[in-house]
Amino acid sequence: MEKKKNLIIAAVLFCAVLLMVVSTGLWAAPKLAQSKAKPGDCVACHVDKKVLPETHPDTRSMDMKACRACHTADNMSLTGKFPGSHTHMLSGVSCEACHGRTGQPEEAPMEKCVACHGPTATLAEKTKDVKPTNPHTSPHYGTELDCNLCHKQHAKSENYCAQCHKFDFKTP
Ligand code: HEC
Ligand code: HEC
Ligand code: HEC
Ligand code: HEC
Ligand code: HEC
Ligand code: HEC
Repeated sequence: MEKKKNLIIAAVLFCAVLLMVVSTGLWAAPKLAQSKAKPGDCVACHVDKKVLPETHPDTRSMDMKACRACHTADNMSLTGKFPGSHTHMLSGVSCEACHGRTGQPEEAPMEKCVACHGPTATLAEKTKDVKPTNPHTSPHYGTELDCNLCHKQHAKSENYCAQCHKFDFKTP
């Protein structure tokens, strides 16, 4: 009798865990499935909300280079208009390039960024003339401040230094 009861408890627990695993999997699945959409096909992912002006040219088959025919750094700059993941997607950098190939996205640590954009000292050299100061080096953190503190891939980018300084950076 006691044995049967334990068996039932074990079965119930097993089902509960299974349900949890399956439901978290389902939660993550649509985002990853959507990632198969072409990066310029905004409406494929943004079904509820307009992310481009009504009269905008059709972007479906465009990449970042095509956007830059009209959007340059000085004219209608796209900096800050959408999350960094979008600039990357439109430049041919897939989700997997940052998150690995597993079904569940792996963390995307700074080493991944540096592998393409670094080394950090070279990056700091590239932005040495940025005013009012170089965002990629400082007396406090050297060149090793985590990229993701400023360059957000899935949210609006931030100006980490602005907590204490009045540097008016436009963070891409
Ligand atoms: C042929 C020129 C042209 C191309 C190519 C183009 N755009 Fe635009 N885009 C415009 C114009 C003009 C506007 C602003 C006028 C308007 O309301 O349509 C605009 C506005 C935008 C806006 C809104 C900006 C704001 O201030 O709210 C976004 C976002 C945008 N474009 C993204 C893109 C992306 C991403 C691409 C490439 C996939 C792209 N555009 C390619 C001409 C272009
Ligand atoms: C340029 C690198 C980069 C690209 C490309 C990128 N991500 Fe990310 N992703 C990150 C970073 C960094 C984080 C953690 C910080 C954050 O949320 O911005 C993250 C967080 C996430 C998370 C939250 C995971 C967690 O552990 O909290 C999910 C889900 C995710 N990304 C999915 C995607 C999908 C789907 C794509 C492709 C459409 C994608 N990412 C493209 C860098 C990237
Ligand atoms: C697989 C290579 C690759 C990886 C990994 C990668 N990037 Fe990029 N990144 C690119 C390419 C390609 C571009 C587009 C360059 C261009 O056209 O200006 C880009 C553009 C950028 C830009 C400029 C965006 C703009 O609007 O001008 C920033 C900032 C950036 N990446 C930060 C990051 C950060 C932070 C990470 C790590 C979370 C990261 N990148 C990971 C390849 C990569
Ligand atoms: C303190 C905030 C901050 C941190 C941390 C940071 N960046 Fe930046 N980054 C900026 C700002 C601001 C710009 C724009 C500079 C300008 O005005 O040209 C920029 C520009 C860039 C660009 C475009 C540079 C170009 O002009 O070619 C890339 C690529 C980039 N960052 C990558 C990285 C990577 C990779 C890391 C981590 C190793 C990192 N950033 C860390 C703030 C930051
Ligand atoms: C593969 C799916 C996908 C495509 C294609 C896509 N987006 Fe997004 N977009 C997302 C997701 C998911 C988020 C939420 C933030 C994140 O995870 O990066 C987002 C967030 C945004 C945001 C900020 C949040 C908001 O709703 O205002 C803007 C703006 C945006 N996207 C514009 C665009 C534009 C413009 C295009 C077409 C050039 C585009 N997106 C194409 C998936 C996509
Ligand atoms: C937690 C607060 C804090 C943060 C965050 C911070 N700083 Fe500072 N910073 C200070 C203080 C305090 C000083 C010393 C002020 C002085 O001597 O005038 C300073 C001094 C400096 C100086 C030398 C003095 C000057 O103003 O020319 C530079 C350059 C500088 N910071 C750059 C940066 C950059 C770049 C960032 C972002 C990557 C940053 N700081 C983030 C607090 C901060």
